[in-house]
Amino acid sequence: MPIFQFTGLSGAGKTTLANATAQLFADKGIPIEIIDGDVYRKTICKDLGFSKEDRMENIRRLGLAAHPFSIQNKIVIISAINPYEEVRKELAVHFGAKTIYIKCGIDILTQRDTKGLYRRALLPDGHPDKLLHFTGINDRYEEPSNPDLVIETNLETIQASSEKIYNFILPSIEKS
Ligand code: ADX
Repeated sequence: MPIFQFTGLSGAGKTTLANATAQLFADKGIPIEIIDGDVYRKTICKDLGFSKEDRMENIRRLGLAAHPFSIQNKIVIISAINPYEEVRKELAVHFGAKTIYIKCGIDILTQRDTKGLYRRALLPDGHPDKLLHFTGINDRYEEPSNPDLVIETNLETIQASSEKIYNFILPSIEKS
């Protein structure tokens, strides 16, 4: 079973869609595993920050955490910003990971700003609360050049998006 790696900006809907997709599988009696960046950054990735090196290391560790599930033929989703093409490719090569781009325009994310992080990143230089190296505002996000699936969360509902992801993953189960 391939690993499914999400990529997308903060607030685009990665965690929400991972959970909604997991629910669709659970309804069919199929458990799936979610490896969420926010969760792992509190445990085995606690030592990592947001430099390019640290973000790549973060994704490599999430890949290693996901791998045992995938070789046991379990569906596993890695849900993290995962902003660099280089490490996304590494996971594709080493673990056969499929890339699902959770896409949403920066204007909408800045308006929604559920965690208040966009506001902090957009503060003037030198402001004590300014968030530096925030993906999409003052840090790099490399759009996937060849994603296996693109979900545009500003155009469709959670229900429609999670059904698309479900239907994308389903054939991998039937094959395995
Ligand atoms: S990744 O770039 O290494 O894939 P990951 O998804 O694990 O990132 O963590 C992103 C989460 O960390 C965001 O949802 C946000 O809550 C938090 N965060 C804190 N600082 C930053 C930052 N500078 N850039 C991006 N996310 C940040």
